[in-house]
Amino acid sequence: MHHGRRKIALIGGGQIGQILAMLAAEKELGDVVVLEIPELENPAKGKALDLMEMAPHGNYDANITGTSNYKDIAGADVVIVTAGKPRQAGMTREDLLAVNIKIITEVANGVKANAPNAFCIIVTNPLDAMVYVFHKVTGFPKKQVVGMAGALDAGRWRAFIAMELGVSVTDVAGTVLGGHGPDMVPLPRLTTVGGVPLTEIATKEQIDRLATRTREAGTEIVKLFGKGSAFFSPAYSAITMAESYLKDKKRVIPSAALCEGEYGVKGLFIGVPCLIGKNGIEKIFEIKLEADEKALLEKTIGSVKKTVEECKM
Ligand code: APR
Repeated sequence: MHHGRRKIALIGGGQIGQILAMLAAEKELGDVVVLEIPELENPAKGKALDLMEMAPHGNYDANITGTSNYKDIAGADVVIVTAGKPRQAGMTREDLLAVNIKIITEVANGVKANAPNAFCIIVTNPLDAMVYVFHKVTGFPKKQVVGMAGALDAGRWRAFIAMELGVSVTDVAGTVLGGHGPDMVPLPRLTTVGGVPLTEIATKEQIDRLATRTREAGTEIVKLFGKGSAFFSPAYSAITMAESYLKDKKRVIPSAALCEGEYGVKGLFIGVPCLIGKNGIEKIFEIKLEADEKALLEKTIGSVKKTVEECKM
């Protein structure tokens, strides 16, 4: 039995980090610590204070603080990592690799030393490589480290279907497998709208268009912003994963988990349907795939493997 408030450490207090802080507070998931680089410690403290001053309207009780000292994340139950450089227009996720490997290595060492029991959700891109690096550096059990990608990608798939068909997004259920890149694999065959198969109420042309839009959704936002990448939906996606862990909700959320044999993958973090509960990644569900789906999955696994190999870890 856990007594007292839980603690959520947010490493990186930029666009996504600040929304994470707001959502964690509003949902009363626990006390929130936002850790930033020393140059941005004061803005982090300022954002934390602003959220404390929002509490009377939001009716939440949470202590929200900003810091640049890893000692302040001591004993965190959940760590969400957004630290890194965001992708700019015209830049691929892979361009970010070298810069963010260095940052994630530093973060992983800080988390290992100060919050060794935290459930760690990595958001920094290129996601499939960053979660791999974080796991390698910390040596944490695989249940304890996960990448946020599938929650966002499946959310986008569901949103686009609802927008196209004019149905409630709540009733759209579906998943996306593979890496967090342009060859991720939405699964129309297993997507339903209130229990009705998507393949029976949408044309092949519609489905193909929605799948393509999903695979390129990150880029669509980057182009519109001109500077920086998506933040509302990535933040909410990561909070949903944190909440399932903290409240032992046992939600089934597509997430980048370390596969050791699942889907024929050995030693890579790949987007797969995961049961998230109080023990972290409690289960990976394996879906029987058809030949064309298998081929697409092989392709995305190949891309992830290539990026991870470029990390030379
Ligand atoms: N330790 C802590 N924070 C750091 C570090 C570090 N070593 N290095 C950078 N940061 C901080 C930056 O100062 C910045 O405030 O991480 C924050 C990142 O925030 P943004 O640049 O606003 O990026 P954001 O939009 O939040 O995206 C974060 O998630 O979706 C991915 O591609 C995206 O990799 C990016 C990450």
